[in-house]
Amino acid sequence: MYTGSILEGDSNLSEARKKWAAAANDPETKATLTSDATHFLHQALSTPCLDVLEECEGIYIINQQGKKYMDFHGNAVHQVGYRNPFVIEKVKEQLDIMPFSPRRFTNVKSIELARKLTSLLPSPLNRVLFAPGGTSAISMALKLARLVTGKFKTVSYWDSFHGASMDAISAGGEREFRAGLGPLIPGCERIPPPNSYRGSFSGISNDLVYAEYLEYVVEKEGDIGAFIAEPIRNTDVQVPSKAYWKRIREICDKNNIVLIFDEIPTAFGRTGKMFAFENFGIQPDIICLGKGLGGGIMPLAAIVANESYNRFGDVSLGHFTHEKSPLAAVAALAMIEFIESHQLLEKTNQKGEWMKKRLHAMKEKYPLIGDIRGVGLLWGVELVTDPGAKTKANKQAEAVLYDCLQNGMSFKISQGNTLQLAPPLIITEEQLAEAMNILEKAISKVS
Ligand SMILES: Cc1ncc(COP(=O)(O)O)c(C=O)c1O
Repeated sequence: MYTGSILEGDSNLSEARKKWAAAANDPETKATLTSDATHFLHQALSTPCLDVLEECEGIYIINQQGKKYMDFHGNAVHQVGYRNPFVIEKVKEQLDIMPFSPRRFTNVKSIELARKLTSLLPSPLNRVLFAPGGTSAISMALKLARLVTGKFKTVSYWDSFHGASMDAISAGGEREFRAGLGPLIPGCERIPPPNSYRGSFSGISNDLVYAEYLEYVVEKEGDIGAFIAEPIRNTDVQVPSKAYWKRIREICDKNNIVLIFDEIPTAFGRTGKMFAFENFGIQPDIICLGKGLGGGIMPLAAIVANESYNRFGDVSLGHFTHEKSPLAAVAALAMIEFIESHQLLEKTNQKGEWMKKRLHAMKEKYPLIGDIRGVGLLWGVELVTDPGAKTKANKQAEAVLYDCLQNGMSFKISQGNTLQLAPPLIITEEQLAEAMNILEKAISKVS
């Protein structure tokens, strides 16, 4: 059995984590963490936990002792901030009217949300299904692609994550999520993800070679029905070129392959556009949405698919108990209205530009920073011990993380050495500057 560490986030079993846990000397926190560790099944990236939260507001999560962390991770649900008053008000109103709607019936709020999503997306992305979580949306997308093409094989990226259910880990590319689980879904092929800094084809001036790899696999393997990918990789923040996505679109069209975009963490303004694919001038056949869709309050995910795929009325694609949830729908509608009425896309781009400059200025100062990548308010800072050899600075990345946590800033580490920085889009310039100061101080200490 493979026992490597999960690269999706920072480990909850590392030495640095043990030191952090040992340093927590508040008796109430210690007792609550022990309770958590006693009652929950332990699993990677979760129990044992980092700290105990009691409250959240705006850009902050707040622990039992009242310590505030600026949250640059937020599990990607916090575009409009925690406990957004506008979203809360709409959810409270709906709670008093109809919090749940059983299947076989519909409700106006869910229809309004479906209409809103399709109005934001280009035609023919006109048909919606809801689900209670991202991995279930992925599952629906994979089923639909099989029905549409009559082909069961998929291609994804090595190292990709599309959710933790059996079908999502089959189609995904992180070996660690499959370790020890035995046979999964057959027909899951993978290609290298475009990577602008390191990897199989680093040094080649453009990323089209990564796109050609798809064509190669399609030719060699045959019968590929779907290509599933994040248009911008969220965790270690990889932003392919427009030419890359144009070529992928061509390959999919030529080979009758459904292009599924997983925008579960990146939609709704994270990249400065409502949807990340809008950065590339192409569109998918199915888009998967989730996380922040529920306004940072309700669990909600969705697929929006090509109109012509609406021909399987006799098949259950989703069939979830919490499917057309009116409570989740009002949260989502409020989240979108808040983004629109507060010009959050424009503000994200402005603040993103500022953050980019600040991070690049840090890179000039500290050789520990090997690469800066990002768009909007999604940035990856890759740490290396030796810029020439690009040796991953995993230990230093953890040291930076725990120093920032100590000083009130939370984020996650991806691929062992990349600091992933994704603040709420409502962050003010002052708060962003404060966070960058905390980060720079931490980097300077380990440089
Ligand atoms: C890219 C991507 N796809 C899918 C998922 C799964 O979403 P959920 O955790 O809601 O099942 C995640 C969650 O982290 C994700 O990052």
